[in-house]
Order: sequence, then C-alpha cells, then structure tokens
Amino acid sequence: MHRPEIRQLADPEAVCREAAAEFVTAAQAATAARGRFTVVLSGGSTPRRLFELLTADPSRAQVDWTKVEFFWGDERAVPPDHPDSNFRLANETLLLRVGVPAARIHRLPADRADLDAAAAAYQAEIARVFGVSPEAAPPPFDLVFLGMGADGHTASLFPYTSALHENARWVVANHVPQLGVERLTLTPVIFDRAGCIIFLVTGTDKAAVLAEVLEGPVDPERLPSQLIRPVSGRVIWLVDRAAAARLGQKGS
Ligand code: 6PG
Repeated sequence: MHRPEIRQLADPEAVCREAAAEFVTAAQAATAARGRFTVVLSGGSTPRRLFELLTADPSRAQVDWTKVEFFWGDERAVPPDHPDSNFRLANETLLLRVGVPAARIHRLPADRADLDAAAAAYQAEIARVFGVSPEAAPPPFDLVFLGMGADGHTASLFPYTSALHENARWVVANHVPQLGVERLTLTPVIFDRAGCIIFLVTGTDKAAVLAEVLEGPVDPERLPSQLIRPVSGRVIWLVDRAAAARLGQKGS
C-alpha cells in the first residue's frame, strides 16, 4: 500500500485547481489505456469549484467527455433535483455543461423508498458498466474523489455507523443517527480497489480532525476516513493551508 501523499495548497481555489489537473491527467491516461475513464465524484460543497474549473478551458478541452463514466461515492435520500442532492450539484455545475451522454451518468438512486434494493441495484449497475459479476471482487475505479467532514466521516461513512463494518457489499444503505437521516454510500470494499483516491479537504474547521486522521492513533470507528487504505492505488490528500494548520504538531 502506498503511503498517503499530502499536498498543501494555499487556499480552496488552489486545491480545486490541483484537483482539476489530476482529473485531466487521470482521464487522459485511462482513456488512452482503456478507451474510457471511470470516476467517482464526492459530495458536499467543496467539489463545486472543481466542477466549475472542469467546465472551463484548459481542462474542458483536454478531456473527451464522451468517454467518462461518472459515479458517485454517496448520496442523500432526496430526489435528484433536491438542493441537498450530490447528483444535482455535479449535474448542474459540470455534466450538463460539458455534454456528458446520459448513458455515462450513473446516479446513486437514493431517492428510492427501499434503500437496500437501491444499493443492490447500484452495485449491479457498477458491475454492468465494468463487465463483471456483482458477486465478484469489486472492479477498480480509475479515480475516486472523497471529502471529509469535521467529524472524520468520508462519503457517508459516518462514525459508529453500520456501513463501517461492511466487508462484502460495494454499496450499502447507512442510517446516520447523528443527522437522523438515511444515506447510500459506497464502502471501503470498493473504494480500496481504486487506482487513485483524492481527498479534498479545506477550511479551518477540518484542521483538528485532519491531524487526527493523518497523524493520530488509528481509530476508524471514530475517524472513518482512516478506513480508506487502497490495496495498491495511490491516496492523495489535497488540503489547503487552513486545514493543514495542525499537521506536524503531534508530539510537539
Ligand atoms: C456528503 C459528502 C460528504 C462530504 C463531506 C465534506 O454527501 O456530504 O459526500 O462526505 O464530502 O461531508 O463536505 P464539505 O465539502 O461540504 O465540507
């Protein structure tokens, strides 16, 4: 397993510019090697600027958007046009603007009444796109973007929730008592097969937890971001100066 690579950038804009450059590099490499690029988008607010940057040149012109297969790492239990929808953010700020074919957009159907069935359906969708059995080992996404909450969660893998213990399914429904909500989330079972995982973490409110996740004791129940340990892929943390403020202070 590669050691995590931590890149400290000046501010959120610089983090998203670096993320856009990594997206383009990964897209070009995957498309050249395999004729397509499979990417998992993160939710929350941080990736908005990344999506905007990808719709503008130079990034826009450097990607063959007809060859990109879009997936999501997690989704709220809301309709796709709801303000809280991770899909809606990406669809409005990126997918519609660069003309991604509908067949390449694989939305997490967290608006379905039966979330366990929705999770199984999404696992089958991932398997179909990769041409593998949903019962087999998870396929390798080329690139996965992840965010991290101030509580150390990533995707919808929240502290002390059942999804943290999933060791077979690629996608699960997860009850999040802290928020009183249900979520759909991909699990470390499939995240850890990715070729590259990029965390985007910005802001002062993430500084304490980032230092704990990267430098503190391993405690994944409390700090689920520590669960992300790719088998052979790379982990890149793109963090701004505010979020990195407490790094390197352990033991000092
Ligand atoms: C979600 C996300 C979640 C997010 C973090 C960081 O659905 O909320 O997937 O894991 O990435 O909470 O969110 P911000 O970027 O808004 O800080």
